[in-house]
Amino acid sequence: MKLGTMLLMVLALSASSMVQAADEIVIKFSHVVAPDTPKGRAAEKFKQLVEERTKGKVKVEVYPNSQLYKDREEMEALQLGAVQMLAPSLSKFRPMGAPEFELFDLPYIFPNYETVHRVMDGDVGKHMFAKLETKGLHGLAFWDNGFKQMSANKPLHTVADFKGLKMRIQSSKVLDAQMKALGANPQVMAFSEVYTALQQGVVDGTENPPDNLYTQKMHEVQKHLTVSDHGFLGYAVIVNKKFWEGLPADIRATLEQAMKEATAFERSIAKAENDEALNKVRAAKTTEVYILPNEERAKWRAALLPVHKEFESSIGKDLIQMSYAIAA
Ligand code: LMR
Repeated sequence: MKLGTMLLMVLALSASSMVQAADEIVIKFSHVVAPDTPKGRAAEKFKQLVEERTKGKVKVEVYPNSQLYKDREEMEALQLGAVQMLAPSLSKFRPMGAPEFELFDLPYIFPNYETVHRVMDGDVGKHMFAKLETKGLHGLAFWDNGFKQMSANKPLHTVADFKGLKMRIQSSKVLDAQMKALGANPQVMAFSEVYTALQQGVVDGTENPPDNLYTQKMHEVQKHLTVSDHGFLGYAVIVNKKFWEGLPADIRATLEQAMKEATAFERSIAKAENDEALNKVRAAKTTEVYILPNEERAKWRAALLPVHKEFESSIGKDLIQMSYAIAA
């Protein structure tokens, strides 16, 4: 979207909020995935809790599936105040001046969800949220999606199978380096464009947790999926700092409590939803699911681990070391 169009939308949105009851607070919560995903369901849970508890004083409008904005645009919209809340993936924070978040993209850094949570909820996560404050943003919570799997129209069994493949990635430099380390050609693309790009052969393959793959119907246009668990996809729920600090203290406390509960809910469903999505992909029979055997996984790991070193300076060696210690 052009800046001019965006400004017009901001004006239109502010005009429409002026006609709303003077004391009603509207939170537009925009995201790019389907409503029937851990993020989509938790956004709805947050809405329900907030509207119940503030007795209508706060209205949360959830816009899923890039309905309002695509990846990059939603970040601009948040900064401009056209929306108040987002939950972008942790792979999308470099353009906001916070490359530290790409720690979560490092291949094979986390063995399981428990480790991810300890990193998110400990000093590493705190450091990242402190960085956001310097960028005019405020972090409210870390949410899960899950471990990513690779897909393409050809089997991806060995590292050599990636050679020359055009692989869609999110806008993360770590993911770019990851695909290059495998011999593939990474292509940054907004999430909303991936299905069509796969269908038309603009890209050959992609990576995502099964739940995102299935709810976007990517399995209809990808013949092969390899369960590699090579990386993690998570989210940060963020708000515009100025908006947040301008809220009455009692309202802010209610929103914080609702977010805490929505986060517990989100984390409690994410793994099961991904397991179920993988089963649905299998059942659809359009995609052959291959579980990467341990010996081959060790080879993928060996090819990918040098990426960690490459990003020590932009992510922070201390943050990487702290995460290693938690994972050990
Ligand atoms: C992607 O772009 O692949 C994901 O970040 C989408 C999402 O928000 O889960």
